[in-house]
Amino acid sequence: MSYIEIKDLKRKYVMSKEVSVEALGGVSFNIEKGEFLSVVGSSGSGKSTLLNILGGLDWEYKGKICIDGKDIKEYEPNFYRRHIVGTIFQQFYLIPSLSVEENILLPMKFVGTKVVDVKQRLEYLLDTVGLKSRREHLPKELSGGEAQRVAIARALIDCPKIVLADEPTGNLDSKTGESILNLLKELNKTEEVTIVLVTHDRETSKKTDRVITLVDGKNV
Ligand SMILES: Nc1ncnc2c1ncn2[C@@H]1O[C@H](COP(=O)(O)OP(=O)(O)O)[C@@H](O)[C@H]1O
Ligand SMILES: [Mg+2]
Repeated sequence: MSYIEIKDLKRKYVMSKEVSVEALGGVSFNIEKGEFLSVVGSSGSGKSTLLNILGGLDWEYKGKICIDGKDIKEYEPNFYRRHIVGTIFQQFYLIPSLSVEENILLPMKFVGTKVVDVKQRLEYLLDTVGLKSRREHLPKELSGGEAQRVAIARALIDCPKIVLADEPTGNLDSKTGESILNLLKELNKTEEVTIVLVTHDRETSKKTDRVITLVDGKNV
């Protein structure tokens, strides 16, 4: 049994009776625990669709996804999105009116995690992503690379087992993008998180342990 098993995953977007798009047409692959895997494919190949499903943002799929042998549909969606997966996106999605620290702590707002534990975790993450001196800053005062580091810390605050990254370097220059990839690599080791990164860029995918290629909604 593999850590994550994706079996015959299909997703069709139905716009009307006549118009529909088959974004995923039967994707199957396995992911091992602790892997840093990339899924590469051109624009429109279904990468974001796949990641949204893995991230618990879209449950309208056919097929099956198991993590540690458990069908993800058995999880309560909010629990799944907080404790099993953490997701980062090309556009960062930080809340403009909240500071770096508040953005990182945002996922914690909704449950009663012990304050001491949260503080420790926050300090550790701020240090790891190199933003200790930026904790009071607002998103508009950050560079793109810094903003993505905030998003990474936010994704990790609840100690998820799996980190999903949708084109995380897509809005960054190549040097900054490289530093974000290196940070993800480091976290893959130190946090022992499994990482699934999707990208249209082959060069980016080469930096990961293993590459899955997606063409027109199918892995080849
Ligand atoms: N919410 C949606 N509604 C309808 N079609 C969509 C939606 N999201 C994606 N698609 C379509 O599904 C296909 C795959 O899209 P996507 O998963 O975003 O690909 P990628 O991330 O690889 O660029 C594309 O043809 C896209 O237009
Ligand atoms: Mg996409």
